[in-house]
Amino acid sequence: MSIQAERQYGYFDDAHREYVITEPKTPYPWINYLGDTAFFSLLSNTGGGYSFYKDAKFRRLTRYRYNNVPVDTGGKYFYIKDGDVAWSPGWKPMRTPLDKYECRHGMGYSRITGEKNGLRSSVLFFVPRNEDIEIQQMTLTNLSDEIKTIKVFSLVEWCLWNAEDDMTNFQRNFSTGQVEVKDSVIYHKTEYRERRNHYAFYSVNQKVDGFDTDRDGFLGEHNGFDTPAVVDKGESNYSIAHGWSPVASHYLEIILAPGEVKELIFTLGYVEMPEDQKWEEPGIINKSKARDMIDRFNSVDQVHLAFRELKDYWDHLLNKYIVTTDDPRLNRGVNIWNQYQNMVTFNMSRSASYFESGIGRGMGFRDSNQDLIGFVHLVPERARQRILDIAATQFEDGSAYHQYQPLTKRGNAAIGGNFNDDPMWLVQAVTVYLKETGDFSILDESVPFDNDENNCATLFEHLGRSFNFVTRNLGEHGLPLIGRADWNDCLNLNCFSMEPNESFQTTENREGGRAESVMIAGQFVLFGNDYVELCRYRDQHEEAERASGHIDAMIEAIKKHGWDGEWFLRAYDAFGKKIGTHEAEESKIFIESQGFCTMAGVGLKEGLVSKSLDSVNKYLACDYGIVLNYPAFTRYYVEYGEISTYPQGYKENGGIFCHNNPWIMIGETVQGNGDRAFEYYTKIAPAYQDDKVRLHKTEPYVYAQMIAGKEAATPGQAKNSWLTGTAAWNYVAITQAILGIKPQYDGLQVDPCIPKAWTHYSVVRQFRDVTYHIDIFNPKSVSKGVTSVVVDGEPITGNILPMFEPGTEHRVTVTMG
Ligand code: BGC
Ligand code: NOJ
Repeated sequence: MSIQAERQYGYFDDAHREYVITEPKTPYPWINYLGDTAFFSLLSNTGGGYSFYKDAKFRRLTRYRYNNVPVDTGGKYFYIKDGDVAWSPGWKPMRTPLDKYECRHGMGYSRITGEKNGLRSSVLFFVPRNEDIEIQQMTLTNLSDEIKTIKVFSLVEWCLWNAEDDMTNFQRNFSTGQVEVKDSVIYHKTEYRERRNHYAFYSVNQKVDGFDTDRDGFLGEHNGFDTPAVVDKGESNYSIAHGWSPVASHYLEIILAPGEVKELIFTLGYVEMPEDQKWEEPGIINKSKARDMIDRFNSVDQVHLAFRELKDYWDHLLNKYIVTTDDPRLNRGVNIWNQYQNMVTFNMSRSASYFESGIGRGMGFRDSNQDLIGFVHLVPERARQRILDIAATQFEDGSAYHQYQPLTKRGNAAIGGNFNDDPMWLVQAVTVYLKETGDFSILDESVPFDNDENNCATLFEHLGRSFNFVTRNLGEHGLPLIGRADWNDCLNLNCFSMEPNESFQTTENREGGRAESVMIAGQFVLFGNDYVELCRYRDQHEEAERASGHIDAMIEAIKKHGWDGEWFLRAYDAFGKKIGTHEAEESKIFIESQGFCTMAGVGLKEGLVSKSLDSVNKYLACDYGIVLNYPAFTRYYVEYGEISTYPQGYKENGGIFCHNNPWIMIGETVQGNGDRAFEYYTKIAPAYQDDKVRLHKTEPYVYAQMIAGKEAATPGQAKNSWLTGTAAWNYVAITQAILGIKPQYDGLQVDPCIPKAWTHYSVVRQFRDVTYHIDIFNPKSVSKGVTSVVVDGEPITGNILPMFEPGTEHRVTVTMG
C-alpha cells in the first residue's frame, strides 16, 4: 500500500486517539458521535448531522434530511464573511475552496478546522459528561498581518420533536413552530404550550449583532444552505418564526488584530421542566434551567475543564484493555476504535446513523444483547441496567418483543415478536455480564414480563424461560422452529410474500410455521451450555442436568438432521426441505450455522468442526471477508423471503455481513487454528483496510455492517457503517478468542489462539478492579496451549489468574507451547 493511498483522505493519529481527515470530499460522509448517555449528536466531517435527546425518533432537536442531494446537506453550520468572501470552516455548506481543511474525529468529540485568506476557524464540538448540551467552541485566529473585521453566522434548523411526524405532517407542522429570543439565546418551544414539557435552545456567549429564527428569513425563499441571503447581504433579518420552519442563527461581528485569537462558545441544549414551572409568565417559557446550563459553559476555562473531563473519562475507559504488539494496526483497532464503536453501538443499538434514519428502529432485543458483550467491561453499571430493560420486554413464555423504544423502554407492538433466536441472546448477555463483574445480585432482581410491573420474576427465571422457549418450540427434526426469522432477518421461511407492501419480517402468510433453523440449534448449544455452567456455579444441579439433557438432544439432532456431509445445513423450509445443502442449485452453503455450530464445538471429535470451517474457507471466504451464502440467489424464492430479493453479493444475499465473520474466527480458535482466525480478522478490521479506503467508501475507523461480496458488481464496497453487531463480536473474537484474555466466573483466564509466527505480546487488563499486566511468550511457535503461568513471580496451576484485592496490580508471565 502506498502512503499516498493510505493518506488520500486522512490518517490515524493514535497518540491523540483521533482519525484526522484532511480532505472534505470523502467518498461518503465520515461521521462521529457526540454524547454517551442522553444527549447525542451525529456529526459528519463537514458539519452535517443532527442532535437528539435519548430517542432519535421522539425527541429530535435539529432537523436532518436523509438521502438528500447532495448527500449530507443540513447540520450544524457556520458561515464566515471576510470582505467579499464567504466560507464555511467545515467546507460545507458554502463549499468555498479552503486554503486548509482538517477534521479530527476523536473519542466523543470532533474538531473541524478551516483556513481561508489568513483566517483560521476551528470548531470543537462535544457533549460534556452528564450534560444535555452540545458545546461548539469556535476559535478564530487572524493569521494575516492586517486587521480583520469579519461576520460570523451560525445556523441550526429545529426539528419539531417527533422526527417522523416532522417529515410527513406538513399540513399541521407548517403552522405550529414557535420560538422566543432573549439576549443571545434562541429558544425553540414548538408544542410547549400544550403537552410537551421540554424545549431546546441555541446560544452564544457574546452579545449578538443580529439573529434569525425563520428559515426563509435566513436563507431567502429560493436559496439553499449554501447561499443564504442573510450571509450574502451581510446582516441578519431579525426574523421570528411563526410556523413554517423555525431555525436558530446568530450573527456576530468580530474584529481581529493581526495574530489575535478570539473564542466564541455556542451551546445547543435541551431542557425538561416540571409541569408547574413551565412558564415565567403566560406564554413566556421559564428559562431558568437553560440559563443555568448556559452559565456552566460560558467561559473558555469552563469549556476546557469539561473537555478535559471527557478526555479523562475516555482514558479511564480505554485503560481497561490495552494490547501491545508489533503491529500498530492491531493495537489501534483493539485499544481505540473497536472499543469506541462498542460504546456507540451500545448507546444507539440500530436506531440512528447515516444509514439508520432514527425513526425506523429502536433498541433491538437481539442487537442490544449482542452489543453488550463488547461493552460490558467499559461501564458494567450501564450494562446491568440495559439487561434489566431488555429482559422486561420478554414475554412469559420466554419469547420477546423484537424491539423497544429507548424513550419509553416499552416493547414495540408494531414489530411484535416471534423471532425465535431472540430469547437465547439474553442468556448470552447475562452470562457475559456475570463473568465480567461477578455481580450475581442481578440474577435476583425482579423483572417484569411484557413491562407489566404486576407480573415479575427474577432475572434468573427469565433465563430459564429463554431456554425453555427453545425446547418447547422444536420442529419435526428436533431442531428449533425459526418463527419469523432467526439472526438472519431476511430468511423469512413462513412469509411467502407476493405483495410489495408487506414487511418480510412481520408477515406470516403461511400458518403452522414448520420451518426450522440450524443456526438457532447451534446458538442453543452454545449459550445453553453457558446456562448449564451458570446453574452448576449456583449449585442448581437439577436444573443443570435437565438443561444438559436438552442440549445433548439438540447436538444429536444437529448431527443427524443438520449436517450436509461437508458443512452444516442452514435450515429446513416450510415444506421440510433442506436449505444450505450441496443438493441445492443456489446458496448451497451459509455462514451462520457454520459459525454457531463450530463455536459450540458440535461434532468436534468427529471432525465436523474442521470440515465445516474448511468449507467456509473454500466457498465463502474471499479477499474482502467471508460472504454470508454462496452461490448467491439469482432470483426471488417466495419460500425463502427477503434474502432472495437482494441482488447477488449485497446484504444478506452473498454480502460480507461482517457481524458473522467473527463467529468463524471464534470457530477457528475452537479447533486451534490461530493463523486462520487472525487472517479473517485482518480481512475486515477497519485499521487493515487503509489501502482500500476509496473502494470501501465508509469511515476507515469503524466497522460497516456489510461489505459487498465476491459476486457483487462492486466487491469490497462497504455500507451501513457504525451500527452493527460486528463491533462487539469482533472485539470478543480478537480480545478473547485470539488474544485469549477471557473472563470466567472464578477469574481471568489466559488462553490465546494466535498466529504461530507471533513470538510475544502483552495485555494490560483491568478485571474486577484489579490490574493484570500480562506478558505472553510463544517460544515454540504454537497457536494454542499454555505451558506455564507465573503470577508475581510464583507459578500457578492452570491458566485462570487468581483474584486479588481491588486496586492492586499484578505481573503475569504466560508461556505457550
Ligand atoms: C435488512 C436486515 C435487517 C432487517 C430488519 C432488512 O431489510 O436486510 O439486515 O435486519 O431489514 O429491519
Ligand atoms: C441487521 C439487524 O439489526 C440484525 O438484528 C440482524 O441480525 C442482521 N441485520 C441480519 O439480518
